[in-house]
Amino acid sequence: MPELSVIAIDGPAGVGKSSVSRVVAAALGYSYLDTGAMYRAVAVFMGDAGISDTDSTAVAHALIDLHLVLAPSEDGSARVLINGLDITNRLRSPEISLASSRVSALPPVRQKLGAMQRQIGETGRVVAEGRDMGTVVFPDAAHKFFLDAKPEIRARRRALQLQAMGQRVDEAEILREIIQRDRQDSKRRIARLRPAATAVIIDTSDKTQAEVVRMIIDRVRAA
Ligand code: DC
Repeated sequence: MPELSVIAIDGPAGVGKSSVSRVVAAALGYSYLDTGAMYRAVAVFMGDAGISDTDSTAVAHALIDLHLVLAPSEDGSARVLINGLDITNRLRSPEISLASSRVSALPPVRQKLGAMQRQIGETGRVVAEGRDMGTVVFPDAAHKFFLDAKPEIRARRRALQLQAMGQRVDEAEILREIIQRDRQDSKRRIARLRPAATAVIIDTSDKTQAEVVRMIIDRVRAA
């Protein structure tokens, strides 16, 4: 059963899933699958094509022409290519964050990306990170974790991260975006954000990244 070597890590926006998942994957010698980047890539593609990300029929049609590739890069994350074009540097803007959340509510998008994600999972030894890894895409994953923290704490962390990168930040704006995405991602009809029944829930509010990583690795190794 290939899904047995999948570690599913889900949780809301800005909780630190990506950094934690990358470190866990590197420590265990697994590959890292950032499914949020795939939804973000679809949002970029639809935006460039002038297609409304709430028009399910138009999006479904446009998806036929979307060839999405995740190419491994040196730091363990992936370069994201759509139809041969590297759009990795465009994935992280606040506009694309909100657009990816909207487009991810559409069934044809989830169908296409879910199938790709399962295919990648079949290669085994994957840390898969997103919103529905443990509930929908890899229901038989060997390990399921759900990271959580209050929106204010997530916004503060994101602001500090951006500041450290030399960017000017508006923490109140970041908080608004996080709350809006939480609402959209957890209220939608399909694959909504929620912990899998058997997920280990980790409240990261008072924990460092290293502590969260350690908790996950200890659980995996103990099994
Ligand atoms: O993890 P992220 O912030 O990069 O994800 C961007 C958006 O993509 C998120 O707001 C909801 C959507 N998403 C999803 O619906 N399912 C996933 N497995 C991953 C992301």
